[in-house]
Amino acid sequence: MRVVELFCGAGGMSLGLREAGCDVVAAYDAWPVAVENYNRNLGVDHSKVADLGDLLGIVPDLLKLAPDMIAGGPPCQDYSSAGGREEAENARLTLAFALIVASVRPRWFLMENVTGAAKSATWAQARAVLKRAGYGLTESKIDASRYGVPQSRRRFFVIGRQGERDGFLASAIAAAASAQPMTIRDLFGATTPVAVYFPSTSEARRSIWSPDEPAPTIRERSIRPLPESYKPHPDDAALVENGFVYSRPVRAGRGVRSVDEPFPTVTRTTWERPTSRYLSSPHPADPVAASETAVLTVPQISRIQGFPMWWEWRASAKRDVLQMIANAVPAPVACAIGSAILDREAGKTVPAIEGRFFHWLVRRGRSRQSAWNTKSLAGRARHLLGGRTFEVPALELAALESLDEFRAMKKNAQSDLRQALRLLSEYQSEGRQRRRKIQRTPPIEIHPLAEAA
Ligand SMILES: C[S@@+](CC[C@H](N)C(=O)[O-])C[C@H]1O[C@@H](n2cnc3c(N)ncnc32)[C@H](O)[C@@H]1O
Repeated sequence: MRVVELFCGAGGMSLGLREAGCDVVAAYDAWPVAVENYNRNLGVDHSKVADLGDLLGIVPDLLKLAPDMIAGGPPCQDYSSAGGREEAENARLTLAFALIVASVRPRWFLMENVTGAAKSATWAQARAVLKRAGYGLTESKIDASRYGVPQSRRRFFVIGRQGERDGFLASAIAAAASAQPMTIRDLFGATTPVAVYFPSTSEARRSIWSPDEPAPTIRERSIRPLPESYKPHPDDAALVENGFVYSRPVRAGRGVRSVDEPFPTVTRTTWERPTSRYLSSPHPADPVAASETAVLTVPQISRIQGFPMWWEWRASAKRDVLQMIANAVPAPVACAIGSAILDREAGKTVPAIEGRFFHWLVRRGRSRQSAWNTKSLAGRARHLLGGRTFEVPALELAALESLDEFRAMKKNAQSDLRQALRLLSEYQSEGRQRRRKIQRTPPIEIHPLAEAA
């Protein structure tokens, strides 16, 4: 899968997509410092400085590259709670992202933003552009601590694929989540002697895992005793031994976290020590005094954000480093989503049949047995279709009928499969109509970007 990343920052998302197996061939950002960190750490020269609000400047280049997927996290300050929620020029870059995707028309796109974007007027416009361009959308709010980083960071991810039905990847994204959130101890405690060593096949992935977290995919060389020479980093050992860290609270939140919880969302002020105001009036739920907590180093903040130990930050100001870290999509999150996309592209996963389909069939007079059979036939049809769903039911049936495996079936087996798919489409379009009544999509109304400048 050839990927172009827009608003690539220092490369968190690209790193994760590459780890999933994507071939990231180009990346763009307006900030030269981020572009420089991207190229040096990822060992490439394909990241370029560009203003992505200038569609005429970028779309022709992307048309030439003809990527299979466009990924990107347009700036989010205008949506985030820290930014006062006034939608202005930055939010409009979300619209620029949608217009670029609609012009270049890759098979897939992946967009990341803060959760506040999901209900914004700008996303409603961008969404309408993407729907009109023929994309089925999966809109998911994801907690990063369930996808391989010890950080309760909730973000809005939209995955689009040409011709699909909305929600087509939701079950795969949900299935990739871990049952338990990852904790600070899971990451840094894994560097204490009680750890499991799974030698990694890639430089970008760690080899030391906590015994309390789900193991990585087991490979032939996996599970060896920790090498004798292995020494935990003194900063990590000190952090775990202390047991508590401070994070400057957003609004009136708690400042002190135990290492047995995830860290809160990393921001560019995460490194700051408690103010005298906080020390004299701490949060009542703080388990220990903020003055007693460990201080996170910048490399530790970088790792909480999913960057590997070898990642080297370079900038003349510390605040630039923290800004690049805070901006990033944690690589393990991007890797999990990228893997879900690649698996679906390869037909290795199939969207779950929506839970209420069975009840809907029973309400329409089917016996439980017959409803069960229909549901499992619909699942079989989706397997035959390689996990594809189709926005247009007639195209779904046509795709099924074009398959050799389907053609080789007996006539009655074919008609059972067709009937199951038809019923599933009917059920889904009823659901869509219900949802449309609830949330009327505003009409597309696009003002020139220059107007906002
Ligand atoms: C949320 S960050 C993206 C971080 C990136 N996805 C990662 O994982 O590291 C948004 C990026 O948009 C960039 N940006 C802001 N305005 C831009 C513009 N007009 N054109 C291109 N990039 C822009 C910022 O420099 C910032 O790096």
